[in-house]
Amino acid sequence: MPRSAETENTKAKNTASSQVATNDRPHGRHSLSVTDNRTGKSYEIPIENGTVRAIALRDIKTGPDDFGLMTYDPAFTNTAHCKSQITMIDGDRGILNYRGYPIEQLAEHSTYLETAYLILNGDLPTRQQHEEWAFEITHHTFLHENMKRLIEAFRYDAHPMGILVSTVGALSTFYSEAKSIFDPVARRQQVVRLIAKMPTLAAFAYRASVGLPLVYPDNDLSYTGNFLNMLFRMAEPKYRPNPVLERALDVLFILHADHEQNCSTLAMRAVGSSHPDPYSAVAAAVAALYGPLHGGANEMVLRMLKEVGSVRNVSEYIKRVKQGQVRLMGFGHRVYKNYDPRARIIKQIADQVFEVTGRNPLLDIALELERIALQDDYFISRKLYPNVDFYSGLIYQSMKFPVETFPVLFAIPRTAGWLAQWEEMLLDQEQKIARPRQIYTGPPRRDYRPMDERM
Ligand code: ACO
Repeated sequence: MPRSAETENTKAKNTASSQVATNDRPHGRHSLSVTDNRTGKSYEIPIENGTVRAIALRDIKTGPDDFGLMTYDPAFTNTAHCKSQITMIDGDRGILNYRGYPIEQLAEHSTYLETAYLILNGDLPTRQQHEEWAFEITHHTFLHENMKRLIEAFRYDAHPMGILVSTVGALSTFYSEAKSIFDPVARRQQVVRLIAKMPTLAAFAYRASVGLPLVYPDNDLSYTGNFLNMLFRMAEPKYRPNPVLERALDVLFILHADHEQNCSTLAMRAVGSSHPDPYSAVAAAVAALYGPLHGGANEMVLRMLKEVGSVRNVSEYIKRVKQGQVRLMGFGHRVYKNYDPRARIIKQIADQVFEVTGRNPLLDIALELERIALQDDYFISRKLYPNVDFYSGLIYQSMKFPVETFPVLFAIPRTAGWLAQWEEMLLDQEQKIARPRQIYTGPPRRDYRPMDERM
């Protein structure tokens, strides 16, 4: 079936198009009839999964020399660029499922490693699969010793995200077989390595940035327990994480494991589409996550709460937000136009964490900001609700994570999602190297002028 078909007798169809019953059309009721008013021709474009293929518009031309119609969609606000079986978000109803499983159930019953397995493999592991998976991840946490020297070479105040971008990319130079991305065994090996080594890279980056000796992985501990060990262990012979904080971090990791086609996942898929090794593509994804509108948002939330300083100043700050002087960080989302389901879960975790760590003094400011914003027409009319980052920064701060490590705490769990999306893209027969089009708005052709003839 052609993707779009110009009707045979254009003129006749033109006048009749609005009268013909839609289910008499070649594509039945599942089609879009459009008339190009430049030419008077009518076209029928199939509708599949609530979308029309952009390439179908290419047949709509004013003449043989016309390139054909394109869509213009800056920032992809209304473009599906892939089919995916991994994560489902219903932004209007505040629903998030991984491989069909609701995020609330995973946050309550699962662990990060089990969820990572689910995201990567499509289903929850059996007990034996889980044991093998956890064993594999635990036994790939060490880094080549040269990586340590690389990390130590950064300037004393290097941001851990900057170090992470560089070091995760550098990992590709240690594993030459990583280039064999269409070999399932080699591909899986890199997936295991990346999930296992990201916490080590992140912890080393942080320890180096504060001048502390690096702590090697402890295979007796859980994924998150070991991460806490590598970050915070000092002179004690054996680090024992607080179980409440260890579980809280694990749940936060579950909540961040994937989020369909966000900015960093788009970077992973786009860079991956030119077929480099996955370490290079993950480096690009980490770089995308670094920005304050994405993974840097919870750091910005904390800075904002400090700037507000007191519950008394909240109304004034909201006024500035409404005047467009500042953004209410941790509010709003491209997809969620209802409460972000992750924010709801995080609020519960915050209570558990604060019972151990003591109440974060910035919490009252956050609660007041949320209370006022949720009843203000500016936020209601724009469907702006707290997102995952609004409370996560407060939890991380109470757990003694330095602010600079916040985006790193996002990058570690999101690695599972990036890799699952990357693999899905590689195996998708419809995908090619990512290469969008543009509308050229620059000067028309002109001739080069020698320098002394220029005005
Ligand atoms: N504070 C104040 N106004 C806002 C906010 C905000 N946080 N977010 C959106 N708006 C306003 C915009 O000014 C715009 O208003 P207008 O229609 O009068 O111009 C309207 O709401 C729509 O905003 P857009 O920027 O078009 O929405 P978009 O979908 O592009 O942006 C984003 C989504 C980037 C998340 C935005 O809401 C934002 O900047 N939020 C703050 C940063 C943040 O929390 N990021 C974390 C996102 S979650 C994540 O990455 C895990």
